[in-house]
Amino acid sequence: MRVLIIGSGGRENAIAWKISKSPLLEKLFCAPGNPGTSSVAENLNIDIKNFDAVKCAVLENSVDMIVVGPEEPLVNGMGDFFKNDESLKEIIFIGPGSEGAKLEGSKEFAKDFMYKYRIPTAGYKSFNIDSFEDAEQYIDSLKAPYVLKADGLAAGKGVLIIDDSRQAKRELKEMLTGRFGSAGDKVVIEEFLSGIELSVFVLTDGKNYLILPEAKDYKRACDGDKGLNTGGMGAVSPVPFADADFMRKVESRIIVPTIAGLQNEGIEYKGFIFIGLMNCSGDPYVIEYNVRMGDPESEAVIPRIESDLLSHFIALGEGRLDRERIEISDKFAITLVMVSGGYPQSFEKGFEISGAYELSGEMLFHSGTTFNEGKLVTSGGRVLALTALADGIQSGREKLYSLARKVSYKGIFYRGDIGLDLITH
Ligand code: AMP
Ligand code: GLY
Repeated sequence: MRVLIIGSGGRENAIAWKISKSPLLEKLFCAPGNPGTSSVAENLNIDIKNFDAVKCAVLENSVDMIVVGPEEPLVNGMGDFFKNDESLKEIIFIGPGSEGAKLEGSKEFAKDFMYKYRIPTAGYKSFNIDSFEDAEQYIDSLKAPYVLKADGLAAGKGVLIIDDSRQAKRELKEMLTGRFGSAGDKVVIEEFLSGIELSVFVLTDGKNYLILPEAKDYKRACDGDKGLNTGGMGAVSPVPFADADFMRKVESRIIVPTIAGLQNEGIEYKGFIFIGLMNCSGDPYVIEYNVRMGDPESEAVIPRIESDLLSHFIALGEGRLDRERIEISDKFAITLVMVSGGYPQSFEKGFEISGAYELSGEMLFHSGTTFNEGKLVTSGGRVLALTALADGIQSGREKLYSLARKVSYKGIFYRGDIGLDLITH
């Protein structure tokens, strides 16, 4: 197999690292990739927003399979582009078309879908500027805190949770009048769910599915879940509170009806489904769907997959995932994201990174790094994601942080408490 991975973050680095070990792989490409993927794949410097450019690279390099990392190309129809092109129809495309990608691209679509297929989720209504007064009334009918979600993609920033109803109405008006651009033309208002969050990942060929290891991510910037929301400061897998009983509920109440619902809607869905869940007193509720893997969750989840991910992808393309068995390690994976000082607000970049090469045998995945005159330097907010696999969380944390101390660059910052909350004494 000649495989092209689309994307350039830690998630894509983790997927590339895993696929590069497969005996079924002939050659791996990543577009645009990053310095981390360059050690296991050939990076192709193309603009992934330009589907024609991707097509050219695919034909030129005789690519047999495309694996899409981020949601944006999927929401923008990359899957449809490849499916509808006669010259490309033999290529296995891992990722849904734009209809399926609406599960992530439109909160209203996702909520209506869950409502229709009786998938447990928070009660909701959606509004636009013409129904602003109804929205105010709906807010008054709910108990605080109020959850407001911009319908469209808003780079992970489109969800507001507000304690005060007057402030919620003010924020709602701002959302509906352009604060998130057209992503906020519609806003979903929903009930607040209290519980513990975790994420479950599914790989489906549209009919059959494999359940990947679950994970918990650490979204806030600072220890103790303080500070601003980020794209993710760390992750752990497995999640101890997701026991077999809970996971059976997730499968029967959420995964099975989601896949059946997609089929019923006539949506051919071949790819990942990332289900963000709230565990409310032992019952799972869906907070959101994503149509891709998580980042940094992938960097914890993928190292626990012992079976051949590329073999699963091939089976997915051929619609025979029912004949694949996923093997998952019992070990704990703990992932630490090293960020640029100031992230998620403004930060400087271009600082030389030392220690990364010394960790080349470890699971050090690159996110915001680049080469500048032969030197590895920072180029983004989330710079590196380091994963340790161990028999327990405590030993995993020790291993992780002792490795992390070997990396340095100006302004390096990371949380010190990844996994700490999961240690039971
Ligand atoms: P989302 O972008 O949909 O993942 O939402 C971002 C975060 O907001 C989630 O990870 C949750 O922590 C929180 N959240 C979203 N919806 C709800 C809800 N209905 N109740 C409580 N928290 C929520
Ligand atoms: N870590 C959250 C996400 O990938 O959406």
